[in-house]
Amino acid sequence: MHNARLTLDPAFTIAPVNRRLFGSFVEHMGRCVYTGIFEPGHPAADEQGFRRDVIDLATEMGVSVVRYPGGNFVSGYRWEDGVGPDRPIRLDRAWRQIETNRFGLNEFMAWAREAGVEPMMAVNLGTRGLQEACDLLEYANHPSGTYWSDLRAEHGVAKPYGIRLWCLGNEMDGPWQIGHKTAEEYGRLANETAKAMRMVDPDIELVLCGSSNSRMPTFGAWEATVLEHAYDAVDYLSLHAYYEEDGDLPGFLASAVDMDRFISSVVATADHVRAKLGRTKTINLSFDEWNVWNQARYEGREEGDFEQAPELIEDTFTAADAVVVGDFLITLLRHADRVTVACQAQLANIIAPIRTEPGGPAWRQTIFHPFALTARHARGTVLRVEPVSPYVETSRYGSVPQLSAVATVDEEGATLIAVNRSTTDALDLTADVRALRPSSVTAQVIAEDDPHQTSVAVRPLGEARLDGGQLRATLPALSWSLFRLATT
Ligand code: AHR
Repeated sequence: MHNARLTLDPAFTIAPVNRRLFGSFVEHMGRCVYTGIFEPGHPAADEQGFRRDVIDLATEMGVSVVRYPGGNFVSGYRWEDGVGPDRPIRLDRAWRQIETNRFGLNEFMAWAREAGVEPMMAVNLGTRGLQEACDLLEYANHPSGTYWSDLRAEHGVAKPYGIRLWCLGNEMDGPWQIGHKTAEEYGRLANETAKAMRMVDPDIELVLCGSSNSRMPTFGAWEATVLEHAYDAVDYLSLHAYYEEDGDLPGFLASAVDMDRFISSVVATADHVRAKLGRTKTINLSFDEWNVWNQARYEGREEGDFEQAPELIEDTFTAADAVVVGDFLITLLRHADRVTVACQAQLANIIAPIRTEPGGPAWRQTIFHPFALTARHARGTVLRVEPVSPYVETSRYGSVPQLSAVATVDEEGATLIAVNRSTTDALDLTADVRALRPSSVTAQVIAEDDPHQTSVAVRPLGEARLDGGQLRATLPALSWSLFRLATT
């Protein structure tokens, strides 16, 4: 039997749990919007065409922020097409689809209100630029008395939205991106756009595009260059990452190790630029696309054939995927001092925790569960826990800790979340919780005999117990567990 230990002490903290870490993403891609969150005529749709069953699941999942409208889609998007009575039908070149524009900014904002989520808008810096970004911001946030704000009122929205979070384009380092740019080109454009947007609304928070993933040949250099251009004008730098099993289960289970290194590298680069420029302001990170994306396993299409709402990347997730997604959330929380926004991609149908049938039901995928439980129970302040555990050998990332863990403390108790990354060995965990003086513990676990089965159950972890200030439990191989300690 393998053993691991750690200590939970409220004296050692990382940062408050920022609710914005539990974000998601809605892109005009495949069936995320159309027949995902929006399906007029569906039996569960309200009078605005929003699927209430999907809103209920998003609420159950604890989604806090939703990024919109892309993704690659935004780099060819004309936001004006999606407001007012005339909605032109357009080709979307990013995903080779037909965009009807039936759903646009005002529909999204009404949906966000119904779903109780904060909007995070992206502007098009692919085919468009500073002027269109400012027009959109003026339409959304300016009170009244100007062309764009009065047009919003004419469209039935008198009160400005006051949208705070804005992404300056999407994955502009990627050659696949419509209007792809070099770091110099993007850095200058983003800086000028950010400055002009702040003239329209000084209260906004701006996200600069980092690399599309840490394997990009320009990774690191891209971050340094774009930050040198735009450091003073922005608040966040973005990260995106998707992982897949690709025939290597032990390596896949260690994916969060890579996410952790990715975050640390971007923090180091941002702080290097801060030192180089002699600034005191800190740039935080927006991990605004992350998930498992099984490109090799998925047998369907990754782009359309110029039809409306094609079925694209509708991955069916497994028990192993759920454990890895749970580990990503642990990692994001462990970096809560610098990662202050994060969006799981995407909310409905596209590599999503929520799947829907057109005209039919909506259901939870395996990855829904660790997200929902983490969002519900990780509250208050993130504690600095330093697990001591055996190592697992992987061909992808070398030797990695078998145990991944994070803890939070709040007014009613504490939460410990743990992943056993071994495919074969259970792990005996001892957590020293004396400093918390807990009165009781309950524990839940996701662990299935077949890591590739496409459903999971959240079961009680019966063996968890308190024993003289020590929390003891056995974590099954390839499992995700959540312990809730009552302290009042
Ligand atoms: O989420 C799917 C796509 O992945 C997004 O459109 C893009 O930003 C990323 O490459």
